[in-house]
Amino acid sequence: MVVGSCMTDLISYTPRLPSPGETIHGHRFTVGFGGKGANQCVAATRLGATAAMVAMVGDDSFGHNYLQNFRDNGVDITHVGVTKDAATGVAPIAVDDSGENCIIIVAGANLKLSASDVERAEGVIKGSSVVVCQGEITPETTLTALKLARKHNVKTLMNAAPADANIPTDILKYSDIFCVNESEAEVLTERKVKTEEDAYEAASNLMSRGCGSVLITLGEEGAIYVSKDQCFRVPAEAVTPVDTTGAGDAFVGALAYYLAYHPGLSMEEMMRRSCHIASVSVQAPGTQSSYPTRDSLPETLF
Ligand code: RIB
Repeated sequence: MVVGSCMTDLISYTPRLPSPGETIHGHRFTVGFGGKGANQCVAATRLGATAAMVAMVGDDSFGHNYLQNFRDNGVDITHVGVTKDAATGVAPIAVDDSGENCIIIVAGANLKLSASDVERAEGVIKGSSVVVCQGEITPETTLTALKLARKHNVKTLMNAAPADANIPTDILKYSDIFCVNESEAEVLTERKVKTEEDAYEAASNLMSRGCGSVLITLGEEGAIYVSKDQCFRVPAEAVTPVDTTGAGDAFVGALAYYLAYHPGLSMEEMMRRSCHIASVSVQAPGTQSSYPTRDSLPETLF
């Protein structure tokens, strides 16, 4: 189950990312389905997971299209609300010719998802294997989801993106796996995360604040994992990226899938397979449009 965000991605492809105050020509524009929460949910369903979403969209064309997108991907939308009080979240995105991106989110309706909306979904949380959260809804709503999951002994996977330097400590304490990328780790720990060693130091800082375990994704360097008993790095495959938007979400969605459906795998193996799914996603344009389906992947991943 994912408790999180839905955004309509407004993606401009440009030769390079603009500097402050600069106007540049783009060469292509697309509208797609995004939002870290929904991306992770859809990434997991593409691999064969049965998944439910707790989210809020606006009563507008973006919101209604989003509900159809969930239906098309087989996501349970019993707990996706429609509000008249805010517009569906949007994310203007620029992607340069090397696949690098810049994203602005205007969260809109996502911020109307309340703790009581999550409480109404307690039965679904209780019946889930994993609850996944991110940082694009209010911290209070996220914390409610994590606490309900803990109450029912359901594993929690918290992707603290985008990073909030004032993240409530309880969010870390209620996270069985706390997952961030290098730049998010920098914001949360107020230290540079440029090398593998920096990443281990950041992870140990986050562990000391109460996380069950910490996973830091390092882009083309793969990802590191730190828990009470383990500490390792999983390398990523070398690929030529077309569009890195949503690659982290492909990784988190895949990890949620493996935690739920292949709990007997080691964390190292789950991360290795999740890195592979993310590397597939960066080789195609768009966010959810780049997520692979199970039938396009080697059977050895399942
Ligand atoms: O992680 C990528 C996502 O971040 C995009 O889909 C955008 O909507 C923002 O939420």
